[in-house]
Amino acid sequence: MGRLDGKTVVVTGGGHGIGRAYCQRFAREGGNVVVADVDGPAADRVAEEIRATAGEALPVQVDVSKYDSVQALARQASESFGGIDGLVNNAAIFATIPISRVRFEEIPEQEWNRVKAWGWEHRQHRVRNRLSR
Ligand SMILES: NC(=O)c1ccc[n+]([C@@H]2O[C@H](COP(=O)([O-])OP(=O)(O)OC[C@H]3O[C@@H](n4cnc5c(N)ncnc54)[C@H](O)[C@@H]3O)[C@@H](O)[C@H]2O)c1
Repeated sequence: MGRLDGKTVVVTGGGHGIGRAYCQRFAREGGNVVVADVDGPAADRVAEEIRATAGEALPVQVDVSKYDSVQALARQASESFGGIDGLVNNAAIFATIPISRVRFEEIPEQEWNRVKAWGWEHRQHRVRNRLSR
C-alpha cells in the first residue's frame, strides 16, 4: 500500500527536471499524478512513463502565468480524479542571463522585469485559484 493511495497531486512543471522526479515518486506511492507543464509533449512523455509502470497519470498542458489556463487545469484534474488533494507549485522560469557570471548591476532592467512579472503572476494565480475553491 502506497502513502498516496487514492490521493491526487498536481505537479506544475512536471514535464522536466525536479518536477518529473516528483511525478514519478508520487506515482510510486500510489497517487494519481497530474503532470502539468507548458511543454505539452513533455507532460505527455512523463505521463506515459508513469502509465508504463502501472501508475495513474494525466498530462495537462498549462501556462501557470495565465489565470484561465490554471482554472482549466483545476477543472480537468477534478473531472478526471474527483478532486485535488495536493499541489506542488514547482514550475519556474530562470533568467536567460547567467546571473552567476555577470555583475548584479549589469543585468538589464528588462530581464529583471521578465522574471519578476512571471513570479508575481504565478503567485497571484495560485492564491486566487485556491481562494476560488
Ligand atoms: N535546479 C536547481 O538547482 C534548483 C535549485 C533550487 C530550486 N529549484 C526550483 O525547483 C523548481 C524546478 O527546477 P528545475 O531545475 O527542475 O527546472 P526545469 O527548468 O528543469 O523545469 C521547470 C519546468 O517548468 C515548466 N514551466 C516553465 N514555465 C511554465 C509555465 N508558465 N507553466 C507551466 N510550466 C512551466 C518547464 O517547461 C519545465 O518543465 C523551480 O521552481 C526552481 O526554482 C531548482
